[in-house]
Amino acid sequence: MPSLLELESIAKRFGPVRALEDVSFDLRAGEIHALAGENGAGKSTTMRVVDGIVQPDAGEIRIDGKRHRIRSPLEAQALGIGFVHQEIALCPDVSVSENIFMAATAASRARLMDFSELERKSREVLAELTDVDPRAKVGTLSISNQQLVEIAKALTLDARILILDEPTSALTEAETVKLFNIVHKLRQKGLGIIHITHRMAEIFGHCDRVTVFRDGRYVDCLDVAQTTPEDVVSRMVGRKISNLYPPKLDGPAGRPILEVQGLSDGMLLDDVSFSLREGEILGIGGLIGSGRSELVKTICGLGPRRSGTVTLEGRRISISNYATALECGMVYVSEDRKVEGLFLDLPIRANISALRPTQVSTPLGLIDRAAEEAQADRLGKRLRLKAASLGQPPSMLSGGNQQKVALARMLSVDPKVVFLDEPTRGVDVGAKSEIHSILRGLAQDGVGVIVISSELPELIGLADRILVMHEGRLTGEVGPEAMTEETIITLASGLGASAAAGQLEGMAQ
Ligand SMILES: Nc1ncnc2c1ncn2[C@@H]1O[C@H](COP(=O)(O)OP(=O)(O)OP(=O)(O)O)[C@@H](O)[C@H]1O
Ligand SMILES: [Mg+2]
Repeated sequence: MPSLLELESIAKRFGPVRALEDVSFDLRAGEIHALAGENGAGKSTTMRVVDGIVQPDAGEIRIDGKRHRIRSPLEAQALGIGFVHQEIALCPDVSVSENIFMAATAASRARLMDFSELERKSREVLAELTDVDPRAKVGTLSISNQQLVEIAKALTLDARILILDEPTSALTEAETVKLFNIVHKLRQKGLGIIHITHRMAEIFGHCDRVTVFRDGRYVDCLDVAQTTPEDVVSRMVGRKISNLYPPKLDGPAGRPILEVQGLSDGMLLDDVSFSLREGEILGIGGLIGSGRSELVKTICGLGPRRSGTVTLEGRRISISNYATALECGMVYVSEDRKVEGLFLDLPIRANISALRPTQVSTPLGLIDRAAEEAQADRLGKRLRLKAASLGQPPSMLSGGNQQKVALARMLSVDPKVVFLDEPTRGVDVGAKSEIHSILRGLAQDGVGVIVISSELPELIGLADRILVMHEGRLTGEVGPEAMTEETIITLASGLGASAAAGQLEGMAQ
């Protein structure tokens, strides 16, 4: 029986960048096939070729053994290909159901369509994934809900081949479980599913085979049952990575750097108090919507503040907007690179210098290109940023490399406290451990580090202490001895108030 989808010797260049070279891949009906590789390895580009967005320079695509040229996403849809993109591509001003519906309408080959049937179906698919109101405007939804709408959209199209490009990087654990329930059902129905991910747990928990790419080339295709995470990782990076997380703080933390007392925003945040000490990495856990991002944004002057105080290095500070936070040395790195993070169409070097352009300006206030380039070069090297040149816009970079640009910008101002919201979302294992080491290095240098992460293993692996939030309040503080996924999930679901109180007392001693 021919494979459902086969790629053979696909090649693609973007100007001087050789994105793909001799890439092969095959997908069977009824399997979940993981596609793994470091940032920039060519995973998304390969799938864009399958979806007709990118035209290959060479190579062949076969579906059911038959050769096809796929010239556009519409042609791909007509061939039964559904694609959930890595970056959300919905219309923000249009409602959830209309977004789902529009795609189905465009894909339909029938001249007369049963709109009520389509509407019913889109609601049904959506309801399986999330309880968002189908009438809500997409722009008002959280990233995770937008991602779920994007997934529902692809599922409504009745695809035979479903491509999921890092679908879980913006989802909570519970949402991830729901998504995989659906994906397993689709596999049973005989769909072929391509699952791009950086998470070994997803490959080994849900996938049948895994194909590994490195530097735009096919490396290997393995049966998941007959391989190990170490094998997959070593094929991805071409070397062995042993210690995934940097060592934790050895001994007690130092003096308080940041103290937050009674912070409320009049909406969600309710009387939040905590302190951050020198040398430690403080993690913030909780479900999406629990107020984690609101908390750090409010501290940084990016959200409203009703009451509460913030003390930095022993001095009460008054932060009215982000510019004053920056002046005090506090930097926020958003979870949303696209909307709040980077200037996607400006050069990388301009993105990196953007927080404090005076550092790279001439006395007359003009940008000194050479200084800007030198700064970007130094920070880019420190983070092992992979780009053809520092004049490229981040829109041309892979997801993980875009994140590195955001981190380079954070480092450009020699911060006192950094707040990172999902800093390794979409970042590959190698780069992820580099980012973790950089954060550990900052903490060791006396910079306060606060990290929000929805990935529990990351939170536990990286943080010295974890604050857990539920519905705008802190429900617990977890020290090294109690750091288990169960403890954090219990606190995050609001169930562990008494246990949490016990731990808080324990911490105070
Ligand atoms: N439109 C484009 N113009 C120029 N270069 C591009 C373009 N699209 C992709 N590239 C380059 O092709 C390479 C492969 O990128 P791709 O997005 O496929 O990586 P990826 O494996 O999906 O990485 P990630 O895990 O970070 O998402 C990268 O070096 C990227 O910079
Ligand atoms: Mg990608």
